[in-house]
Amino acid sequence: MEMTHRPRRLRRSPVLRKMVRETRMDKSSLIYPMFVTEGTNIKQEIPTMPGQYRYSVDRLPEALEEVADAGVPSVMLFGIPDHKDACGSGAWAEDGIVQKAFRKAKETVPELYMIGDVCMCEYTSHGHCGILDGDYVDNDKTLDYLAKIALSQVQAGADMVAPSDMMDGRVAAIRRKLDENGYCTVPIMSYAAKYASAFYGPFRDAADSAPAFGDRKTYQMDYHNRKEAMKEVFSDLDEGADIIMIKPALSYLDIIRETADAVDVPVAAYSVSGEYALIKAGAKLGYVEEEKLICETATSIYRAGCSILLTYFAKELAGYMDKGLIG
Ligand code: PBG
Repeated sequence: MEMTHRPRRLRRSPVLRKMVRETRMDKSSLIYPMFVTEGTNIKQEIPTMPGQYRYSVDRLPEALEEVADAGVPSVMLFGIPDHKDACGSGAWAEDGIVQKAFRKAKETVPELYMIGDVCMCEYTSHGHCGILDGDYVDNDKTLDYLAKIALSQVQAGADMVAPSDMMDGRVAAIRRKLDENGYCTVPIMSYAAKYASAFYGPFRDAADSAPAFGDRKTYQMDYHNRKEAMKEVFSDLDEGADIIMIKPALSYLDIIRETADAVDVPVAAYSVSGEYALIKAGAKLGYVEEEKLICETATSIYRAGCSILLTYFAKELAGYMDKGLIG
């Protein structure tokens, strides 16, 4: 049989397949999200996220050492406060849970690059991501609070801040506040296109941040929309975002691709708690192979165009990259 093109030629051996790979990734692009809680000597497994824990600040260093030892360079911190109130004051308190955690991290494992998730939902008694006016989240009032939260995280040692609240204008408000206070070199990674998603379910258990009433659809995006994501991305870039994030990842690969093609800044994707939980649950039931699924799903997210991946599988992925399973 005469054939000019035989695509199988390049699939003949593992060495060759690896040589011609189109998607490459390495550990330097992984960010591991972690939860810190008040109290002492706590390492409590999150029921809906087996293998993920809430740590008290005193137990955080051992967990951070593991991350660094795995070769994962960066951690994103979420705080779970003891007390919540209507304006989420624990989010910017000098001795707030996440501020204490940043100080501890910088003291004990300074080589890790620490990122702060800037939002209010873990800290508000109503569980919404901003200040309420009746039952509507007041955008402009919330901006001052977000800027304060970002500043307090940076003052406590955060190397980068990542606003996840989806208020309009928050990147500009945070940029201004950081610059006024001498932090013009601290980057902002904006959750630019963040969809109202059922994939956040396990996280809300982990962070105790489910809204007490209603949902987040008046600020997070409707998952029917694609062009709107570009509107969000470009307005965040105009406001000074340094890195653009798309979230969730797996059901939003089209949005990641479109963003990667359209912008000239790094694009991050957040593979969220529900994506983690589904793989864990399927593997526990014996329906799917955990390791192979972790590799395939993560690679698909990079293939879609992101160059940074936030994932609860960061340590596992670093190990698989070391073993040459992916990368
Ligand atoms: C805070 C925030 C959420 C997540 C990251 N930051 C929850 C939400 O918007 O309800 C979700 C992360 C995950 O599911 O892993 N606003």
